[in-house]
Amino acid sequence: MEPHKAFLASSFWLVLVIFLTISLHGVNTSNEVHHVKTHVGGLVEKDQRRTLFDTEYGDISSIEIKGGHRAPSYHLQFFTLEPNSVFLPVLLHANMVFYVHTGSGRVTWTVEDGGTRRTDLCEGDLFKLNEGCVFYIESNLEAERKKLRIYAMFANTDDTTYDPSIGAYSRINQLVKGFDIKIIQAAFKVPGDLIEAITNKTDTPAIVHANSKEHKTFWELEALVLSDFLGIPSNDKKGKTYNIFDKDPDFKNCNGWSLAVTKKKLKSLKGTNIGFLMVNLTTGSMLGPHWNPTATEIAVVLEGEGMVRVVCANRKNNEDKMEECRNMRFRVKEGDVFVVPRFHPMAQMSFNNDSLVFLGFSTAAKENYPQFLAGKRSVLGALDRHILGTSFGVSNTTIDQLFASQDDSIISGCVSCAEEEERVMKEEERKREEEKEEEQEKEQERARREEEAKREEEQARRQQEKRERRREKEARREHEKGKEEEEEEAEREREGGRKAHRRERKHVERREEEEAQREQEQARRQQEEREKRREQESGREKEEEGERGRRGGVRPHRRGDRGRSREEGAAEWEQEEARRHQEQDGDDVEDKGNRSSF
Ligand SMILES: *[C@@H]1O[C@H](CO)[C@@H](O)[C@H](O)[C@H]1NC(C)=O
Ligand SMILES: *[C@@H]1O[C@H](CO)[C@@H](O)[C@H](O)[C@H]1NC(C)=O
Ligand SMILES: *[C@@H]1O[C@H](CO)[C@@H](O)[C@H](O)[C@H]1NC(C)=O
Ligand SMILES: *[C@@H]1O[C@H](CO)[C@@H](O)[C@H](O)[C@H]1NC(C)=O
Ligand SMILES: *[C@@H]1O[C@H](CO)[C@@H](O)[C@H](O)[C@H]1NC(C)=O
Repeated sequence: MEPHKAFLASSFWLVLVIFLTISLHGVNTSNEVHHVKTHVGGLVEKDQRRTLFDTEYGDISSIEIKGGHRAPSYHLQFFTLEPNSVFLPVLLHANMVFYVHTGSGRVTWTVEDGGTRRTDLCEGDLFKLNEGCVFYIESNLEAERKKLRIYAMFANTDDTTYDPSIGAYSRINQLVKGFDIKIIQAAFKVPGDLIEAITNKTDTPAIVHANSKEHKTFWELEALVLSDFLGIPSNDKKGKTYNIFDKDPDFKNCNGWSLAVTKKKLKSLKGTNIGFLMVNLTTGSMLGPHWNPTATEIAVVLEGEGMVRVVCANRKNNEDKMEECRNMRFRVKEGDVFVVPRFHPMAQMSFNNDSLVFLGFSTAAKENYPQFLAGKRSVLGALDRHILGTSFGVSNTTIDQLFASQDDSIISGCVSCAEEEERVMKEEERKREEEKEEEQEKEQERARREEEAKREEEQARRQQEKRERRREKEARREHEKGKEEEEEEAEREREGGRKAHRRERKHVERREEEEAQREQEQARRQQEEREKRREQESGREKEEEGERGRRGGVRPHRRGDRGRSREEGAAEWEQEEARRHQEQDGDDVEDKGNRSSF
């Protein structure tokens, strides 16, 4: 190897390393698209986009959209670069077709046979990048300082498919950093600390300012290497761009114009399933009802506001509520995206006070020829009038009249059409809202009733519990009261018993006392009697002694007689006493029996 070439070769590697250094700083990845919401049918407003990168020098947002639940989904990205900024290199995973909406700049990409290509970009350019290339985009610093706005659609065909799991592209720093330092060092044949310096960087934005120091170094070296080593002039082969505004529209009248870009017109669209169209409706105009027989149309509103009416291709045969196809009206404004599946007739309208400009990416492997309902090229107009009349249930003449004044315009004046559509839409929305509210109210009412029923049940249950508790308590209290009463009764009884007993005892005592008194009295009386008798006897004895003294004594006999009678009296008394005692004891027994029977 010649020394000169060897030097260049080493400087090429150096450039690659620096190239990587710039972008190798691992930022948020663009391939975290796994759990992204895919919008099905209808409208995706600007603020519903997902932000992929948001930096000081620009931002990138995306949406996933598909025409129906079973339709393939499409990925769109919206690049906005401040003037004089760079979207750092990425490896592209799927064919990408993009339209430059505002601003200017250039895109640089690698090609398979080595080296890079670049092309300048300006407003209205339509461009395609092939999957597998590494590309980056710079924005110019214009006098008007317009931002570079790019709307991109990624292809979705069998052989080149946007894969949500890996995203639309990956930043090259991520690709390199996935390897161990050793491997990278071996591959690049550079000192380890150089690699470390690269891998140590963790946070660089996806979009940087063009005049940053790193960036300058990058450009200087790139220029050196490309021109000297690869023999490619730095201002290398220019890719051709296709500018919408350089071409004559397919259709144009005072109400607007439309242009479709097919593979025939732009060869680079071959190999993608993406077609392009652009429509500009002046105030109070309409792109007549039409459908796409082979393509789903994904439109991005570029300017103004308008209304879109989409009629469902088949409303009745759908059993799945989820997939139910609805006729739709939506109001669109700049930045909104709307999708219309194939075979769904649609019409776009502008308001009386504003024009409506939108681009459309159509997805079709084959050429797509939009079919219009009305006009000279009407698909219906080509049918037999009689058959058509029968189909509509009207006479030939009605059909004749219907097609009497057809010209070949597809865009026509439609004053206040958008306004009317909006009115109907709002009306429908209001109705839906009301229905929803009604439904909600019903739901709430139902919930309330259920709640109430539950509450009542609960209350009833609680009351039942309370009652039971009360009953239990009462039962317990009664039981206790009963016991108390019993006790009281018993007490009373005991008391009563005691009293009775006392009474009795008193009675007995009194009786005993009386008895005693009586006995005493008796004893006293007997004593007195005895004494009296003794006195009388002694008096008589004295007399008898006096007599005996005169006639002799019979005293012992009489004395014995008298003694016997005295003994007899005492026994009698004792007997009487015992009987009385017995009577008393019987009373006692009777009392006791009564009490125990209680
Ligand atoms: C890389 O980071 C490690 C630890 O964070 C540090 O020790 C090392 O010096 C850094 N290397 C370079 C080249 O900056
Ligand atoms: C669309 O048409 C209007 C009115 O003719 C015009 O002012 C506007 O610049 C056009 N927009 C584009 C993008 O062509
Ligand atoms: C144009 O008219 C529509 C409907 O009447 C209205 O909602 C909108 O704000 C108007 N736009 C402008 C730019 O005046
Ligand atoms: C309608 O047209 C068919 C054939 O074109 C003709 O046979 C038929 O008489 C027409 N009917 C009327 C009511 O004009
Ligand atoms: C107990 O006394 C009551 C009156 O107090 C009387 O009716 C009843 O017959 C008596 N019982 C007995 C067993 O003598």
